[in-house]
Amino acid sequence: MRIAIEGCCHGELDNIYEALVHLQNVNSCKIDLLIICGDFQSIRNLADLDVIACPDKYKSMGTFYRYYNGEKVAPIPTIFIGGNHEASNYLWELYHGGWVCPNIYFLGFGGVVNFGGLRIGGLTGIYNPAHYDKGFFETQPFSNKSCRSIYHVRKYNVYRMAQIRQPLHCFVSHDWPNGIAAYGNVRRLLKLKPYFADEVRTGTLGSDANQFLLKRLKPSYWFSAHLHVKFAAVYPHEPEHPVTRFLALDKCLPRRDFIQVMDIPEVEGSGPYELHYDEEWLAIMRATHEYMSLAYNQKSLPDDATIRA
Ligand SMILES: [Fe+2]
Repeated sequence: MRIAIEGCCHGELDNIYEALVHLQNVNSCKIDLLIICGDFQSIRNLADLDVIACPDKYKSMGTFYRYYNGEKVAPIPTIFIGGNHEASNYLWELYHGGWVCPNIYFLGFGGVVNFGGLRIGGLTGIYNPAHYDKGFFETQPFSNKSCRSIYHVRKYNVYRMAQIRQPLHCFVSHDWPNGIAAYGNVRRLLKLKPYFADEVRTGTLGSDANQFLLKRLKPSYWFSAHLHVKFAAVYPHEPEHPVTRFLALDKCLPRRDFIQVMDIPEVEGSGPYELHYDEEWLAIMRATHEYMSLAYNQKSLPDDATIRA
């Protein structure tokens, strides 16, 4: 199976698909799936643009609305997670995951799908300890404050992800797992992004929640974006010695490393290359649903053995 990974999308769907179709034509190959690692910007109209958390001068309609209104159709099946610059009002409507337009699927605030036997999990948002153990207290219309807190990862979704027991092939997060920089070429990283030096030194570059999930789920691949730089790492898990291959990509701009095409080994007994619900994830959603909190405080979460039963 051949998949393409894209870093931050920033509404540049036309350019991303153009680049991928060009790659397919030049190499006479087919790309089966595109995974976008956040800052997707599913902006349908001017009202959605108001919700994006960024200074007004950077706000742009982008090209998603053409795929939403039916003018264009995504040429490659696409799945994505949210980052910290999103039309969060639209993504909130699809909290559990869903199609934002034909052929483009949002994984949800936390979700797992199955594509041709490949199990792909993802977490929307970025880590910020200020709201980590809170409920989803934000109500619409979002205020200047709540359009920022809404994309902070919640413990509830990390807890749900942590219940996964079956092997996961890919995991997608917007910010990096904390500590991953130490497992790649950190010198080159700091040459490209010298202002990360302090965070690398103090072990604070990246998300603690993602670090926890990386160690817990041990996926074969982990893809991220957010820091706008291409970076690869191999993370070893003790004591069984499997590894997670980590790849972060840049944003979609000329002469930047924003796309990586890679071949993933066929999964045994895999089905057709189309999206399916993941059975284990559906069971986890059902078992954990009653603990979802829409109040400021998150309801207390049962221990793993209780929720497993
Ligand atoms: Fe970002």
